[in-house]
Amino acid sequence: MSDRVRIYFTGDCEGFDTLRGALAASEEVDVVGASVQVGAATTPLAGGHLDCILHATRDSVFPGADVAAIREHTRAPIILVASGAEAAAMLESAIEMDVADVLLLPQMTHNVVFAIRKASHARRQLQTAAHRGRVVTVFSPKGGTGKTVVATSLAAMLAKREGKRTLLLDLDLQFGDAAIMLGLEPAKTVYDLVVAPGELDSEKLAGYVTRHACGLDILAAPMRPEDAELVVESKVTALLDVARSSYDAIVVDTSPFFHGAVLATLDRTDQLIVLCGLDVPTLKNVRLALQTLEQLSFPASRITYVMNRASTNVGLKTREVEDGLHVKVAHELPLDRTVQVCVNRGESAVLAQPRCDFSRAMVGLVKQMAPKTQAPTAAQRKRLLSFARA
Ligand SMILES: Nc1ncnc2c1ncn2[C@@H]1O[C@H](COP(=O)(O)OP(=O)(O)O)[C@@H](O)[C@H]1O
Ligand SMILES: [Mg+2]
Repeated sequence: MSDRVRIYFTGDCEGFDTLRGALAASEEVDVVGASVQVGAATTPLAGGHLDCILHATRDSVFPGADVAAIREHTRAPIILVASGAEAAAMLESAIEMDVADVLLLPQMTHNVVFAIRKASHARRQLQTAAHRGRVVTVFSPKGGTGKTVVATSLAAMLAKREGKRTLLLDLDLQFGDAAIMLGLEPAKTVYDLVVAPGELDSEKLAGYVTRHACGLDILAAPMRPEDAELVVESKVTALLDVARSSYDAIVVDTSPFFHGAVLATLDRTDQLIVLCGLDVPTLKNVRLALQTLEQLSFPASRITYVMNRASTNVGLKTREVEDGLHVKVAHELPLDRTVQVCVNRGESAVLAQPRCDFSRAMVGLVKQMAPKTQAPTAAQRKRLLSFARA
């Protein structure tokens, strides 16, 4: 997708014609249209996916009413353009207005392009900061612990039960099986995404995910193990940053190693689920993994310990594991034959058999995942009250 800034012109002033012509010829902007009267531009303002509006005003006209009229249709940044003797006086009143910048004509075209790009960039950053999906990574330093079962269950429940826009990202890059566990045959994978030319954005990401009937989106692992190495750290970082702006939750399934992609994910992880099992080799590896996480300065407060197949009587108890690892296990998931049966049918137990023991235990885990609602700050409260009174 092109990253040209989509702009629209409203109003008029001396020299605006020339500026419009110069911008139309610019490679960096995409001129969607122009309308002298704001009132006649309702449709493009509301539906034009605009990144910036350039509103020109004559020195005798106070632009406040026009700015307010534009604001009825779009939140895109507005740059005021003016010329003439009184234009400078307008600067003072513009401080109070909801405009990103004021430009007094004549201007060099590249200065105007810079102002447009800066205004639209600032808005995009604000949007990204305002919406930041939660990254939940499921990790265990041993194969077969149940990472994929837990990651797929968690993601499916977040999508279906909690109604969250959820992405399941399979970073078990060589032998990922998240898609197959959910009975999907993805046409595209994370490999196709990282080798595709051009910058990544939400729209492009949407073209590579596979939708499950429960509403969950999956970005599957590469089809061939040899393609894994192209999914490098920097690509994963960019992918997670984009995913965070378009999803409420991103659940990441992993392989039992700390390879580059997993390290990049840890950097962006809000909650790390470390899966444990009631067997000595797994616990030995969990202990080593915890040491690595400490060396990486991964915050201990973000780790949730989950014991899978907890109900088996195998001569080791969760309590002993907690003592041995000096951690507290937050959740226990039972050994449940239903899970195996469902895996072999390509369906998730939490969707197909919501009443089985495993599914019910998963509910507790999902409830714990829901980000806690924070009390509003004093400033937010004040703003809310002023809205309520208005
Ligand atoms: N709680 C459970 N009860 C019963 N079987 C389970 C449970 N968790 C995992 N399994 C079985 O173990 C197998 C391996 O799990 P998987 O999630 O693929 O492990 P990992 O991703 O850690 O390698 C699955 O195919 C599933 O049948
Ligand atoms: Mg797995």
